[in-house]
Amino acid sequence: MPDSESNVERIRIFDTTLRDGEQSPGASMNHLEKVEVARALALLGVDVIEAGFPIASPGDFEAVRAIATEITGASVCGLARCNARDIDRAWEALQYAQKPRIHVFLATSAIHREHKLKMTTAQVVEKAVASVRQARSLCEDVEFSPEDAARTEVDFLCEVVEAAIEAGATTVNIPDTVGYATPFQYANVIRTLRERVPNIGRAVISTHCHDDLGMAVANSLAAVEAGARQIECTINGIGERAGNAALEEIVMALKTRYDYYGLETNIKTERLYPVSKMISTITGLTVQRNKAIVGRNAFAHESGIHQDGMLKERSTYEIMRPEDVGVPKTDLVLGKHSGRHALKDRVSELGYHLNETQLETVFHDFKALADKKKEIFDDDLVVLIEKHIQDVTPVWSLVSMHTTAGTGLLPTATVCIRRPDGQIVQDAAIGDGPVDAIFKAVERVTGIAANLKEFSIRGVTAGKDAQGEVSLELEVTSDDRTFRGRAASTDIIEASAEAYLNAVNAIATRRERDQPREVIGRPGAGA
Ligand code: KIV
Ligand code: ZN
Repeated sequence: MPDSESNVERIRIFDTTLRDGEQSPGASMNHLEKVEVARALALLGVDVIEAGFPIASPGDFEAVRAIATEITGASVCGLARCNARDIDRAWEALQYAQKPRIHVFLATSAIHREHKLKMTTAQVVEKAVASVRQARSLCEDVEFSPEDAARTEVDFLCEVVEAAIEAGATTVNIPDTVGYATPFQYANVIRTLRERVPNIGRAVISTHCHDDLGMAVANSLAAVEAGARQIECTINGIGERAGNAALEEIVMALKTRYDYYGLETNIKTERLYPVSKMISTITGLTVQRNKAIVGRNAFAHESGIHQDGMLKERSTYEIMRPEDVGVPKTDLVLGKHSGRHALKDRVSELGYHLNETQLETVFHDFKALADKKKEIFDDDLVVLIEKHIQDVTPVWSLVSMHTTAGTGLLPTATVCIRRPDGQIVQDAAIGDGPVDAIFKAVERVTGIAANLKEFSIRGVTAGKDAQGEVSLELEVTSDDRTFRGRAASTDIIEASAEAYLNAVNAIATRRERDQPREVIGRPGAGA
């Protein structure tokens, strides 16, 4: 797609963090978080935001609808299987978008046809055509994905793609659903489509690569060299199993190697780092230190020879500047004496939109933290902000807690918790350690029993006074559901208690929604 002003070809960036990314284990986001992420993606400059799969759940539907209604600039896309109900539901969620797109998909590989769909090739083509037609009758912009395209017989792939374009698809996406492709082979598939599908010029060819063999980015870029002009990807590469192609890597490869690719994107690269932080904080999926572009070590030069070279001339060992991807030069942002204005500016530079009430609460928390911690970094601020976009009604709230532990001592915990009716309840428990004792005490007070499936603590920043962020996941076997909790504090035991209570509140909120009259909590817990 030549850029109308400069004649430079541009690659469309289709972000699927909120759909394929959110499908990755443990990465689910609440409504407010999804809307916040969509705003950050729009600011980043992505061309398409795949906001969700509207038929999948009422929550997905509402999120797609809210994002479609609010976002301008980027297209907002909703996923649908090739059936009438899915497509109607997707359109219901998308109809008020400034630029709506319906994305329909149907598996085409022999493995999927025979074992999953139990359909013949003719039936697959017929269904794909009918669905693309239905979607086009509702929406001008329709994308079709032959799922598992990379393992589909190439002759049949050409046939389906041609039929989908004839039926009105404006983008044809070629998913490597199981991350099986290799760069040269995947590029050949794209080349073959361009050579053999007579109407291919009427649609944009898109890539969608999974990272099972660690080749998602390489495959996407190889496909671009072969003529693909849209890349589907996610922030930090999150997604099913090993994830999807990482947006930041693709964008920076195109930018840094413009000499080779000669292709541009609309991405404001200096927003990559803040968005990456937002996603890792919201999902709890931490970015590995040596991750390209956004990892903590991505711009760190350790060896003396490298440091010496860098001092003499940056380009000796640096192919990108940290500021190009938004890594702050100094990450110290605010101190005890910083005012509301400085906080507000930093919050929006980090890509968040908070209303006045939320800002006031973050400011209050920030002052409290500044009393405990001399230097407040971006990462500290992000965890304070995130606390206010967690969509959990504070059913139970921690008033105070006390633990004793140590060598030769039996770890005990006492918690004092405010009940939903305002009454303050107290109880104590022993455990394997202070954290375990706290969790047991909370369980005694709330009467909500759950299995702890995941528990992790990470230092939000460096330094002895750093906040510790606890992320955990509780499983309620009777509901067959998991609930996440997250909290940060300079005291990791307190952070653990708050995170546990957040997850318990999520369980209680869910139960209340399902059965409005149910009494929450164990009646008569010691006052
Ligand atoms: O991986 C895949 O095949 C998908 C499709 C729905 C596009 O995510
Ligand atoms: Zn996928």
